[in-house]
Amino acid sequence: MSIERHSTDDHAQEDVESTISRDATLAADVDAQGLDDVPGRPRSALLTGATGYLGGFLLADLLSGTDTVVHCLVRGDSPDEAGARLRGALARHGVDEGEAERVRVVHGSLTKRRLGLTDDAYLELARGIEAIYHCGAWVNLIAGYPALRGSNVGGTVEVLRLATRVRRTPVHHVSTIGVLMTAYEAGAGPLSEDHPLPPPGGVGYFKSKWVAERLVRQAAERGVPVTVHRPGVVLADSSTGLGSASDWFMRLTAVSVRAGCSPSYDFLLSLAPADFTSRSIVELSRRPQAAGRIFHNFLPEPMTLADYFSFVESCGYHVPAVPYPQWLATVKGLDGVDRATVRIAESLPRILLRPRNGVPTYGTSGATAAAIGSNVTPPPLDRAYFARMFAELVRQGELPPRKRTAVR
Ligand SMILES: NC(=O)c1ccc[n+]([C@@H]2O[C@H](COP(=O)([O-])OP(=O)(O)OC[C@H]3O[C@@H](n4cnc5c(N)ncnc54)[C@H](OP(=O)(O)O)[C@@H]3O)[C@@H](O)[C@H]2O)c1
Repeated sequence: MSIERHSTDDHAQEDVESTISRDATLAADVDAQGLDDVPGRPRSALLTGATGYLGGFLLADLLSGTDTVVHCLVRGDSPDEAGARLRGALARHGVDEGEAERVRVVHGSLTKRRLGLTDDAYLELARGIEAIYHCGAWVNLIAGYPALRGSNVGGTVEVLRLATRVRRTPVHHVSTIGVLMTAYEAGAGPLSEDHPLPPPGGVGYFKSKWVAERLVRQAAERGVPVTVHRPGVVLADSSTGLGSASDWFMRLTAVSVRAGCSPSYDFLLSLAPADFTSRSIVELSRRPQAAGRIFHNFLPEPMTLADYFSFVESCGYHVPAVPYPQWLATVKGLDGVDRATVRIAESLPRILLRPRNGVPTYGTSGATAAAIGSNVTPPPLDRAYFARMFAELVRQGELPPRKRTAVR
């Protein structure tokens, strides 16, 4: 790399850092002090991200597990298109007509002031909701922080502003375990829920979610009742095997199957099926003792990347571990591999930061488990679970049919 290129990169890096530091201070008008509390259990809520993977599960679980009216912020070229997109999410989750009657579409965007609503519509929404489930975000592990900050940081500010417009509206914020990535890299562990937020690091997406969490914590200091949920890698539904094929981790899996090898990479994955992640969020949101706390919404037992690929092997795909550079070269040499997948493969060292000092685990404290209680039983991530997940990926054409019989 030339010196000139190097200094340009350094400037770009400095710009991002100063933007992050500016963005990480919450606007002064977002303040809940002096506002009234929501009385009792929420009768209606706003959900962001309902058309996405985890948000679709949240929508279905809010409808089946509560009697809340669910207003969903949905993008679209028109209100009709937003409504059609939301009906698609309901259909994917098999929500019945009776429950779907409790759904309202709010045509708007996280990137817009007042979420893109008129003054009147915004005020009506603020008056009408008694909780916010903020799951919407641009989940993109290859875009830079400047591209992601509108949706992930600006969107969080808009959600917090709405939460303080009329009353102290509780916010259930969906963060990510990636906000702790630099502490993981430093090898400091175990990383429990109350570990101090370390400096931001890793890919731009983690940084944008880090800033969002910082803002949410500042809102808490100003009286907004916030609960933070940090999923790890959200995997397929435990009963149907239905996952999100466009998700980075599924792309990594599918391209490794195509390449016939997996990256030998020292990393402990914090995993949970999407249904467990979603139910734990909904269940915790209904527990008064969970308010104001941070939760790690994944299974207590982490899994090494090597063990994960052993499950891929057990489902009939030959993916021996090879050194990361060899795996990357093989992936890049595949016929017809799409650019986004190559960029995810190239970014792996910034997505899965290598711990410098022993491998720390992320804690899911006993308190989390107790708060979730027996209502949400952690499903086993065993051979049968992965068989369902891979069968579904084959059905969707994301994976080739298995090449050989299972070895386990
Ligand atoms: N998937 C994981 O493994 C994982 C792990 C940890 C944390 N999380 C967190 O979980 C949440 C959901 O993730 P996901 O995997 O379900 O993502 P996803 O499938 O990409 O869904 C993202 C959702 O956010 C919406 N959204 C994005 N930008 C928006 C905007 N400007 N205005 C309005 N809506 C917008 C999307 O709407 P459109 O349909 O219009 O695009 C979609 O509904 C995110 O907060 C993510 O950070 C996910």
